[in-house]
Formats: sequence, structure tokens, C-alpha cells
Amino acid sequence: LGNGLASTPPMGWNSWNHFNCMIDEKVIKETADALVSTGLANIGYKYVNIDDCWAEISRDNKGALVPKNSTFPSGLKALADYVHSKGLKLGIYSDAGFYTCSKKMPGSLGHEEQDAKTFASWGIDYLKYDNCNNGGLRPTLRYPVMTRALMNAGRPIFFSLCEWGDMHPALWGYTVGNSWRTTNDISDTWDSMVSRADQNEVYADFARPGGWNDPDMLEVGNGGMTKDEYIVHFSIWAISKAPLLIGCDVRNITEDTMEIIANKEVIAVNQDKLGVQAKKVRMEGDWEVWAGPLSHYRVAVVLLNRGSWSTSITAHWDDIGIPPSTSVIARDLWEHKTLETTFAGNLTATVQSHACKMYVLKPIS
Ligand code: DGJ
Repeated sequence: LGNGLASTPPMGWNSWNHFNCMIDEKVIKETADALVSTGLANIGYKYVNIDDCWAEISRDNKGALVPKNSTFPSGLKALADYVHSKGLKLGIYSDAGFYTCSKKMPGSLGHEEQDAKTFASWGIDYLKYDNCNNGGLRPTLRYPVMTRALMNAGRPIFFSLCEWGDMHPALWGYTVGNSWRTTNDISDTWDSMVSRADQNEVYADFARPGGWNDPDMLEVGNGGMTKDEYIVHFSIWAISKAPLLIGCDVRNITEDTMEIIANKEVIAVNQDKLGVQAKKVRMEGDWEVWAGPLSHYRVAVVLLNRGSWSTSITAHWDDIGIPPSTSVIARDLWEHKTLETTFAGNLTATVQSHACKMYVLKPIS
């Protein structure tokens, strides 16, 4: 979307994966504090995004959305001021339907202009726009109405289309939003995570600066996968130029989780200015090679083992877009080591079950 935002994928946090509807202004403020105190804010995680369940079920007598008095008594303007004072940005949630998915608050269908103005008046920086209870009206008749309303609201607001991929938003999303979901909801399991990665990969050609494919938010730190599996989750999201929206309780984050989501080298792949989403370039049995170009003729590669035994995986230059006779220097982004030898033609590594290796390959000039 041509609103000047999202030149790289958005980074931040969202309440849904960990808290569902159990949110209040205290959780949001404490999360903002934690993003700063952990250093996550400093490395790019700027959006603090409130998901479903923040509003009263009824609009006020002027038709405006009202923050739920029992959970957000200070109001959203005060919360935005607080979040902004920490150098962060505040995101909110609504739905391109009559009610949100929780049915605990109204949607914005038919109220787009007013709601966009309300959000702008509060100082909101990001809108996630869900797809429930939409009366069967097709998304291309609902989402662009909010796009126009946001463009008229007098404040740049990142627009996240949460259509779940059913009507192929990758095909029409670029002029409507800054990101679009390509899948239905992720859950905190290996199977759910890899299947979202697969569904999202199909649309790789449609992602570019200004608009990104969204395979849903991160589950890293929520406890349902092993550390290696979460490393796969983060690596694939990063190389796929997916939004990096943390979905765990940042106030009680573990060292293992920090080691994953605060890996600056992996984040740099996600935030590379070239903005090209990686693809699956080879699969053989249970293993896969994912690769995509980076700026300065570098290439990012993930060697992924989806099987139950450790295996050796080879990235061939032919597959990953490096000229055949080129030698490269390989940086291992999880070991934080530059490999001692250079590589010509291919690179092979042993990869454990449900684990991956991630490299940046740099041609030697
Ligand atoms: C469905 C969305 O896909 C989820 O990410 C979340 O926003 C829930 N709705 C909230 O009800």
C-alpha cells in the first residue's frame, strides 16, 4: 500500500497468541516496558499490538467505538501516549464485519470512516483488520473501504489485512494493505507452523516493500515446540519476509526465547532492504532448501530437516541463484560463526531432526 510504511516487514508484539481475550491496559503497558527493558525494542520490535476484545460491545451515542471500561479504563489515547513515550508504536484491531471473531466487540463494517478517524485521533499506528461475521460480502468490497478511510484519517497507519488467505489476498492485497494473511490461524505446534510456512511460500512473488505475505504471528516462547523447532519457525519467518510479531508473554521471557527472537543476524535477513521473499528451491524426501536473494548479491539460505532423523542437506548454487563458478564466504547465523573454508558450487551440512541451518552466503569479489 502506498502509504509510505512497511518498506521492510513490521516487527513488534501482538496480544492474541498468548493472551487471547485476557487483555487489559496493564498487560499492554507492562509489555511495552518489557520490550524496552529486554532490548527487543532497540533491535526493531516497535509495534505493540492489541488484538480482539478491547472494546465495549456497544458503540457510544455518536456511534464511536468505546474501549472497555473494565479493562481499558484510561482509554486508548492515554495508552497510545504511554506507548509512544517509550519510543514504541501502538496497534489496534477491528474486523471487516459486524462483530469481531470473539463476538465480544463490534466490527467496523459500515463504520469505516468514523472508526479510522477515531483510531487516528487516539494516535494509533497499526490496524489489524479481521474477517469474521462479514455477512458473506466478498473481501474486495470490504477491505478497500477501510484502506480509503485510513488514507483519509490524517495519520499513517499500517494496515494489516487478516482475511486468512481464503480469497487469495496476495493477488489483490498490495494496493489495499501493508500485509495480508495467507493462512488461517497458527497454533503452537510443529505441524501447524510448517504448514503455514508452506501455504505462505506459494505467494512469494507477491511480497515486496510496502506489502508482505503474512503466515500469522510468532509462537516462539509459548511452550508448544522444542527450541530447535522454534529456531526453524523464526528462521523461516525471517527468510520469508514475514511480519515478526512476537506472540509470547514478553514480561516473563526466557533466555532461550530471547536467544531466538533477538538474533540480530536473522533479523537482518528479514529486514534486508532488497525485500525479496525466499522460496523453497529444492525438496528431497524430508529435507528442503529455502533460499532468497539479499542486497549486495548475497543469498540467504535455510537448510530444513522436517524428518525424524538427522540428515545431510546440500544447497546447490544452481538452485539458490549463485553463478556456478562463484566462491562464497558462508556465515552461520545461529552459530554466529563465519565458516573457515570458502565454498564453490554447493554447501552441505548435517541437520538434526526438526531443525535447520541458516546461512548468508557472500560472493568473493
Ligand atoms: C482470527 C485471527 O486470525 C486471529 O489472529 C485473531 O485476531 C482472532 N481472530 C481474534 O478473534
